Amino acid sequence: MSSTPIVRVASVHKRYRQGAVDVHALRGVSLDVERGSFISIMGASGSGKSTLLHLLAGLTQADDGSVHIDNTDLTGLSDHDLTLFRRRRIGLIFQSFNLIPTLTARENMMLPLMLDGKTDRAAQNRVDELLEKLGMLKRSHHRPDALSGGEQQRIAIGRALVTEPAVILADEPTGNLDSHNSRVVCELLRDLSGEQGRTIIMVTHEAEVAAYTKQVIVLRDGSIVDRFEGEGFLEHHSERFSAALARTA
Ligand SMILES: Nc1ncnc2c1ncn2[C@@H]1O[C@H](COP(=O)(O)OP(=O)(O)OP(=O)(O)O)[C@@H](O)[C@H]1O
Ligand SMILES: [Mg+2]
Repeated sequence: MSSTPIVRVASVHKRYRQGAVDVHALRGVSLDVERGSFISIMGASGSGKSTLLHLLAGLTQADDGSVHIDNTDLTGLSDHDLTLFRRRRIGLIFQSFNLIPTLTARENMMLPLMLDGKTDRAAQNRVDELLEKLGMLKRSHHRPDALSGGEQQRIAIGRALVTEPAVILADEPTGNLDSHNSRVVCELLRDLSGEQGRTIIMVTHEAEVAAYTKQVIVLRDGSIVDRFEGEGFLEHHSERFSAALARTA
């Protein structure tokens, strides 16, 4: 018996106007994501990966089709409700960490809770637990510029987790990290989905990073052109996988 997917994207279109030119960034994308999945989205630059993540985050609206997350229809929400939805139900992780430079690591992690007025003892304890789990308790009073890239991304992951979001969306989370820190972040994300049942959707350009996920979706020119899944999908389908990526490069 399968449960209702936590993410349902149905026939979504998104167009952008660039001067006199109309860019059709997503052309009828449909995607169901089961609760607890860890999936990656790959594809060449400009294929629509970030646009798809932004739609899931409620940062932009579809022109056509629908996006449901955890039984909420994003298409019908006002800007105000979208902002609240994003703050409470979505965890966002970016390539450039996007921490606030004047706040400490701990304050950066607390920020989504502070914006919601949730700074009681229980919330403080949860942040400390999370800092401990991320191996960042000792560094929690440092500002971002005193942290390594890997440490900054761990804090950004903590910030994405503090609200217990329905879905975590990561746009090239390892793009600015060296190979060691990239592995640390990938293992962390894999454990969050595997052990804690988090749903994580990650955009990446790197096959080694995608290999940590259970499913890969390949976008080309705004359409899903291939999907790979199952344990060891990269080895079992290595030729088809390389071919799909080569076509999109
Ligand atoms: N805000 C915007 N205004 C106008 N055009 C946009 C906007 N955002 C994206 N686009 C266009 O939509 C298309 C898809 O862009 P998107 O950012 O989703 O690609 P991407 O797959 O994330 O690429 P990359 O790998 O370079 O990050 C591109 O042609 C891009 O120029
Ligand atoms: Mg992008």
